Parts: sequence; structure tokens; C-alpha cells
Amino acid sequence: MFSLFKKRVNLLQSGLYEGMTDRHSHILFGVDDGSPDVEESLRILSGMEEAGLKELWLTPHIMEDCPNTTERLKDVFARLQEAYSGGIKLHLAAEYMIDNLFLERLSNKDLLVMEDNMVLLETSTWSSPYNLSGIIGQVISHGLNPVLAHPERYRYMNMEDYRKIKSFGVKFQLNYPSLVGFYGSVQREKALEMMKEDMYDFIGTDCHNYRSLSHILEAKELLSPDVEALRRIIGKNA
Ligand SMILES: [Fe+2]
Repeated sequence: MFSLFKKRVNLLQSGLYEGMTDRHSHILFGVDDGSPDVEESLRILSGMEEAGLKELWLTPHIMEDCPNTTERLKDVFARLQEAYSGGIKLHLAAEYMIDNLFLERLSNKDLLVMEDNMVLLETSTWSSPYNLSGIIGQVISHGLNPVLAHPERYRYMNMEDYRKIKSFGVKFQLNYPSLVGFYGSVQREKALEMMKEDMYDFIGTDCHNYRSLSHILEAKELLSPDVEALRRIIGKNA
């Protein structure tokens, strides 16, 4: 009984991927550090489809160092949709770094958002943007619902910070790779702790290429309590 409880499974074996919605990916080709071309994107999509994914949000980077325009992303998205004939429902949004370009797009109301005006935001891994709380307030005052991408990856945030940010009404998106140790043990531990406190609202793979997809699907790191916690996160959006 003990050994069964301790048995580690991967995402595919857990059955959680089947019918899931992936909220974070860099599969839109040629626009950031993700998929380089349409062939790679189609290969990734076919792998995801085979594994049972139902819906996928394409969330290319938008930041001062990668200043994709809304128009260009919409154009490439249309080309991908034309080339893809499979069954995954594709959606376009973006992953906005909180920087001056984001603030400019925010004031110009030029943002690619998810349903319910949810906007996916990230910060630097190492340091907080100046006046993060104030910026969150500004986003909300524009009628948007902020979703913080992979909070567990921010080295400068602790559990107290997470609780404070959640109290502003920010939703959290777990990066599945954090949970299976892709970024290191610190991020994994934080992800597990945040799952224990039921802080996550969404899940995403942050998949950048075909090679990483097989790692994401096949890394055998999930124990029964992790599977149950993930089921709850996925269930929130079912
Ligand atoms: Fe990302």
C-alpha cells in the first residue's frame, strides 16, 4: 500500500492532460524564443493532440526586448490556424512582461487578452518591477483581470508576497514544468507549497519546442497528492 502511494507517474499516466486547457505556450512560430517555424508548431500541436489536449492558449512574449505588435501576432495566428487542421481549439493571447512597453499598451488599450479580460503577466525572475502593487491596481482599474504567469519562478517572492498579491484579486497560473523540477528544486518546492494553499487558478506548460514537450509529458515526478491538487486546479476551469 505504501509503495503504491509513493508511486511516481508522469502527466500522461495521470490522465490529467486528457481534455485539459493549457494556458501558457510559445508555440506561435517565429515571434519569440519558442517555435521557430510552422513545421515545428504543427509537430508540437500534433504531439499535444495525441496526448489529449483540448484547448491551447498561444501566449508569445511581448516585452521591450521582444516588442511584438498585436497586429503581427494576429497575422501569424491566422496563418497557424490555416495550416492546422487538428482538433485542439487554439486561442491567441500574450505573455506581457511588466515593463514600460506593457504600460504603454495598457494605456492604449492595445492588449491581447483571454476570456473575461484576463491578461497574462510576468515579471523578471530576479527582481520586482517598481511599484508592482500600484501596477496591479492600474491593470484592474482598466477593467482587466490580471493573471500572474508562473509565480513560483520569481526568486524574489515568498509566500507572504503571494498571499498579498492574491488578496488583490490576481489569479495565478502554475507552470507545470516547475512542478516536475525543470527549473530546480526551489521552484518545485514553492509550487508544491502554493498548491497546498490552493493558490493556483490555471495551469500551463510554457512549452517552447517539441523536445521539451516530451519531457513535460513524460517526466515521472507526480505523487498522488500532486495529482489530486492538479485535478482541483484543472477542475476550476472545467
Ligand atoms: Fe512563457
